Amino acid sequence: MVAAGASAQVKPEDAIGYRQSVMNVVGHAFGPMISMAQGKIPYNKDVVVKNSNVLDTIIDLPWTSFAPGTEKGAPTKASMKIWSESEKFKEHADKVQQAAANLAKVAKTGDEKAVKTAIGELGKSCKSCHDDYRLKEARN
Ligand code: HEC
Repeated sequence: MVAAGASAQVKPEDAIGYRQSVMNVVGHAFGPMISMAQGKIPYNKDVVVKNSNVLDTIIDLPWTSFAPGTEKGAPTKASMKIWSESEKFKEHADKVQQAAANLAKVAKTGDEKAVKTAIGELGKSCKSCHDDYRLKEARN
């Protein structure tokens, strides 16, 4: 993981805002791809190549902004378990990075079926972390 944007000097509210911003960009990049995988919109190779590259590039950014001391300070959906189970949280982060790298690679082949499978796999790794570590409602 790259220590971009996070350090001991960063204020908790800034770290929280930063990780939420990155996550929102991740969500925007992922949205059209999952819609394609689910057959809701037509498959578009160019969009998948572009969005999967964006995702692959930025998906390693948010994790360091869950550093100790950023548990609170602004409304956040981060579960406190992130800090008590930091090893497991990191495993989820590593998994999603691998899934994103895989999708970016497969996307270039244009093999629609394989691409959709890779999108589905990536979606599973988002969901499994959210199920365990993202709260339904923001807390303070
Ligand atoms: C390692 C755990 C983890 C993984 C993997 C993960 N997320 Fe998140 N995500 C979180 C946490 C925790 C938050 C809440 C952050 C906060 O509020 O401080 C969040 C927030 C978000 C948000 C902000 C929206 C909201 O209201 O909560 C979006 C969008 C999002 N994630 C999309 C994704 C997508 C898409 C993927 C997969 C490509 C993904 N996430 C992978 C942990 C994860």
